[in-house]
Amino acid sequence: MTRLLTQRARALASASALALTLLGLASQLASAQVPAIFEGADLQLGAKLIADSQCVACHQRRVGGDGSAIYKPAGRINSPGLLRGMVEQCNLELNLTLFPEEVTAISAVLNRDHYRFK
Ligand code: HEC
Repeated sequence: MTRLLTQRARALASASALALTLLGLASQLASAQVPAIFEGADLQLGAKLIADSQCVACHQRRVGGDGSAIYKPAGRINSPGLLRGMVEQCNLELNLTLFPEEVTAISAVLNRDHYRFK
């Protein structure tokens, strides 16, 4: 009985080790698509900040819908650096007092969802 349990535990352990390896590979593949300046950005924080700041409300007033039409991936913002620069500019002009890592987090989310720079 104990031996059976031990065997089961071993099988379970190696299955979860395999799952972890696969997860690691998947996240490496995913992060390979991210521009260097957005590597390690806190995407959860970025999404929260976008929702909490007046970004969306103001963009909606301007372009209607869900506001995302303001983001023009084929427009003059044509690099990760320019995207981050634009967010920093909004930050300064609107006195949002975001920290640099928050500006990066927001930019990384906008890149993931709209601009898709590699
Ligand atoms: C008070 C209104 C207002 C607020 C608040 C605001 N924006 Fe904007 N944003 C604009 C307007 C207007 C434009 C279009 C500027 C233009 O086309 O010249 C714009 C453009 C942008 C663009 C460039 C779009 C493109 O592809 O050309 C980005 C990126 C952006 N905003 C991000 C943000 C983020 C992130 C926030 C919140 C942290 C934010 N904005 C808050 C009004 C606002």
